[in-house]
Order: sequence, then C-alpha cells, then structure tokens
Amino acid sequence: MKTVIVNASRSYDILIENNSLRKAGKEISKRVPACTAAIVTDSIVDALYAETLSASLQQAGFHVVKFVFQSGESSKNLAVFGQILEFLAQQQLTKSDLVVALGGGVTGDMAGFAASVYLRGIRLVQIPTTLLAAIDASVGGKTAVNLAAGKNLAGTFYQPGFVLCDPATFATLPEAVFAEGVAEAIKYGVIASPRLFDKLAGGNAHNDLEDSIEQCISIKRDLVMRDEFDNGDRQLLNFGHTIGHAVEHCSGYSITHGYAVAIGMALISTAAWRLGLSETDCSGPIKACLAANHLPVSSPFTVEQLAGAALHDKKRRQDSMNLVIPQKIGQCVLYQIPVSALPDFIREGVGKEP
Ligand code: GLY
Repeated sequence: MKTVIVNASRSYDILIENNSLRKAGKEISKRVPACTAAIVTDSIVDALYAETLSASLQQAGFHVVKFVFQSGESSKNLAVFGQILEFLAQQQLTKSDLVVALGGGVTGDMAGFAASVYLRGIRLVQIPTTLLAAIDASVGGKTAVNLAAGKNLAGTFYQPGFVLCDPATFATLPEAVFAEGVAEAIKYGVIASPRLFDKLAGGNAHNDLEDSIEQCISIKRDLVMRDEFDNGDRQLLNFGHTIGHAVEHCSGYSITHGYAVAIGMALISTAAWRLGLSETDCSGPIKACLAANHLPVSSPFTVEQLAGAALHDKKRRQDSMNLVIPQKIGQCVLYQIPVSALPDFIREGVGKEP
C-alpha cells in the first residue's frame, strides 16, 4: 500500500493499492462517519465494479444509493449534470452525506462538480478506474462539464476528501485506453522525473504500476500544493496539452485525449529544440518513449488547422499563451508566446528535417 498526502485548501490522502476496492468502505469510514453514500458511475463501470464498492460501503455501515449514466464523453454535459443534482436532492442527501465518484475522468469531473455545488458543497471521494483518471482527474480538485462551445468550459476547484486508487481495476481497460494513461505518465516523467521517464521508455508500463502511479501523483501533488488555482506552476501539467487539445478538436474527438497529448508532446519538444529553447534535444527520447508504448508522434493535420484550433484553447490569455517547453528530461518551463507566433512555432514542430 502507498499513501500520498495532499495539503491543499483541504488535506486528504490518496491511497494506492491493488485490490483495495473491496475495502473501500473500511477506508472511507476511517475518514467519514457512516452516512448516505451516493455512488455516481457510468454504465460500463457500474457492471464491473459498483457491486463490490456498494457491498463494501454497506458492510462499513453506509446507506448506499447509486446514479448511473450512459458511458462516454457525450454524457459529460449540463443535462446529465442536472440529473445528478436532482438525484442527490431526491435521495435527500444532506451536508453530512457523501458523493463517491467511481469511474474514469468523465465520472470524476462531473460527480466532483455536482458534489461541489449541491448544497454549496458536500463530501466527495474519488475512486478512479482508469490509469488516466488515477494520475490526473481524480487528484487536484478540477471539476468540469463540457459546453456546446468546448470541453471543460464550466467547472470548479473542489478538492476531494479522499482518493482510493485500485490499479487492479485497470485490468479490464482496453489496451488503447490504458495507453492514454501511459501518455500522461510519460508527461510526468518529462516535467519532473528522469527516473519515471526511463522506466516508461522501456515500454513495459504495466510493470510495477503502483510505483509509477505514486510517482505521477506525487509530482501532481507538489504542483497543486504550490499553485492550487492554476495561475503558475500547475500549468506545467499542460505539457503537450495545447497542441493535444487542438489535435482532439481537429479530429472531431476521434483521436482521444491521451493520444492527442502524445502528439502534442512530440510536436512541442521538436519545435522547442529546433528553435533553441531547450537545453538538450528531448524530442528524440520523447518520440522513442511514446513509440515504445504504442503511442503516436504525429497527426495528419496541417499547421493552419492545428494553429486555428489551438487559438481557441481556453488556456489562452488574451494575446499570448503559455506553452510548456522541456529544458531536459525531468525539467520543463513555461514559455509565453504571442498568439501571432503560434503558426510558425507549430510549423517547426511538424516540419521536415532541414
Ligand atoms: N489536468 C491538469 C490539472 O489538473 O491541472
């Protein structure tokens, strides 16, 4: 068992342990007195893991109710979000009760958002069942739903009271969905840990997963504790994301988040090296590491398409945007670029060797 402690506006433990789902009730009851626990989950995770969680909570004295929505990014909208709030009200949850988000990033973001606004905030436990959610969405307190104009445009900062991560639940993930999480893990290696990067470069991400998850979460924890509300260093977590979001957008979201971030990391590190912004050439090692983990390093989109989509990124601040540039493996910096310079930057990233 590994525990990471987060001291943000709320302090909480993140427990990482294989097969810990069946003792979730016991672990939650150490932190929350018995009450009504509303499990929020999607249709796929419901069939796989809700029964184990529900039994464990009941055994620990919780009264369990459950809200299930249709699995998929298209459910992450205001209508389903409203249904969750109405469900919590119909079940008469009070300020002393609890929302338990069981699932991937869509579930964690939406259930977290609901917990943050229902009765102006009730207790929240995150139980991620994908690698991507375990090392990103379930930690750090960002919650969101998508709007018609774009992804994650409405949400709150709301830290959970506890996070339980059972890597055994990742065994049911399709390999492509697991690989999306590996792309995010590689990102953590590039921004803060040569050791993690080297381990993942071997292409055996399933090996010693608890250790890799602990490293990723510890890196995120440190950045969140320095900059909970995303005005400074937390933005380092966006390495590969500005271009990644553009790739997702250009593909009509058929290229999923982790794959798009992989492409973004390859492009940014190539451009940064060619433009003399990196101390060492990280693009070769990053592309090799991505390829070893069956992740893409380029996209079919033109410079104009990518630049057009990137300029609509919500992280853009007026006439400039912050890009995350690798200095060397294990160290990145924020680099402010005028939006007018973005097409040329992207051109360096996708261009042919001189
Ligand atoms: N996913 C980036 C962050 O939590 O800041």
